[in-house]
Amino acid sequence: MSKWTPTSWQDREALQQPRYDEPEELERAVAELAELPPLVTSFEVEHLKSQLADAQRGESFLLQGGDCAESFAECTSSTIANKLKILLQMSLVLVHSSKCKVIRVGRFAGQYAKPRSSDLEKRDGQELPSYRGDLVNSLEFEPGSRRPDPFRLVRGYEKSALTLNFIRGLIDGGFADLHHPEYWDLDFVDHSPHASEYQRMVEAIGDSLRFMETLAGTHVGDIDRVDFFTSHEGLHLHYEQAQTRQVPHRDGWYNLATHYPWVGLRTADPDGAHIEFFRGIANPIGIKVGAAMDDQQIRRLVEILNPQNEPGRLTLILRLGVEKVRDELPRIIDVVAGTGIDVLWCCDPMHGNTRSTSSGRKTRMFDDILGELDASFDIHASKGGRLGGVHFELTGDNVTECVGGARGLSEVDLERAYRSQVDPRLNYEQALEMALLVGRKMSQLHHGGTGRRPPRLDTGSAGEVSSPRRYVGGA
Ligand code: PEP
Ligand code: CO
Repeated sequence: MSKWTPTSWQDREALQQPRYDEPEELERAVAELAELPPLVTSFEVEHLKSQLADAQRGESFLLQGGDCAESFAECTSSTIANKLKILLQMSLVLVHSSKCKVIRVGRFAGQYAKPRSSDLEKRDGQELPSYRGDLVNSLEFEPGSRRPDPFRLVRGYEKSALTLNFIRGLIDGGFADLHHPEYWDLDFVDHSPHASEYQRMVEAIGDSLRFMETLAGTHVGDIDRVDFFTSHEGLHLHYEQAQTRQVPHRDGWYNLATHYPWVGLRTADPDGAHIEFFRGIANPIGIKVGAAMDDQQIRRLVEILNPQNEPGRLTLILRLGVEKVRDELPRIIDVVAGTGIDVLWCCDPMHGNTRSTSSGRKTRMFDDILGELDASFDIHASKGGRLGGVHFELTGDNVTECVGGARGLSEVDLERAYRSQVDPRLNYEQALEMALLVGRKMSQLHHGGTGRRPPRLDTGSAGEVSSPRRYVGGA
């Protein structure tokens, strides 16, 4: 294999990159970024890698979540605090049910670049560059706004630093107290057929925390300093390259723009620029895997990205969709087993389940998301393995972008608070309910032993949630 450098990707075809009309401006922005201090440290990156290795061995579970795309305008205290709060609360539910450690990873502090299906967007006869995320241009359909501006790379780095600074401060300052169910917004629970079970789970969590606090004579926020890690799609290769460096006393090159970058589905060509870049960085990395990937592509990706079979190095984030997961997942598990390389298996039940409503909005159904997770847990278990993590698009705010959940949000509700500029996210209540249901599944699998029919994940709300078919093709 040819020699790797932080710029060797430039000799390959790089998909999904903006076209800048002033190359020297790009050079200046990249040079500026390369001088700025890193956002994360190699110590944290290695610490995460060892935790992911634990998850690969079945001793820990990965919870990854956040916006489809962050925006510069939403770099605000309430948005960030709410996102952290929901992820912490979900993680506590999962710790409680799975009886194992949970690794918390936010899709934040850098999730600013988006892949698009077309370079150009046409409206009323006018053609402009597509919006590629705030790292590249801005959403407004105006020539000036859509022009890719390289200095946005520096602004994206700065917004990431502000986000991370606030998150680190909240966590150090005991915000982890929001673990306490006293701070949870649980009104939705009463709307679910599982109300009493949800109440029991939340009460049991509160009891455990109080027991621990009594035992230790201190507040949980003081005993349990939680770790929080960042991740984003490593799409914009100049941005990623600029923060990739060597550090004293360690071998290799670290991408210090984030702890845990992943390669998106659209840029996962084994011969393309993204895989070339990712193969050389020392971070733990993820790769999205879709139903259309053939055996050869999956095999090559795993072999190129983790040739030394390093524990914790490679996570496969499967996004197959509820309709394909039962056919495709067993095949993919077999292909990876054939390489002899170990990976962490994570399920992204969002991206294979996007549908359009009759009014043309992108949505996802709570029950489709659950259905894909349910099948994934079972299929891994039936093949003697384990689903080691979940990856959600979510927000801590009360948006209405996905349908279903305890409150039975419908297509009509989407008009009320649809704020995503790209993909639809679970809102606070839907995300917490999802964690309760995943936790329930994990504890049933944990206690279920072998030889029994696996428990089914469902909301038990038949009748309240409309059938997924309704949304197929926007019908
Ligand atoms: C995403 O995670 O927002 C995304 C674009 O996913 P995928 O690459 O799986 O389509
Ligand atoms: Co998305």
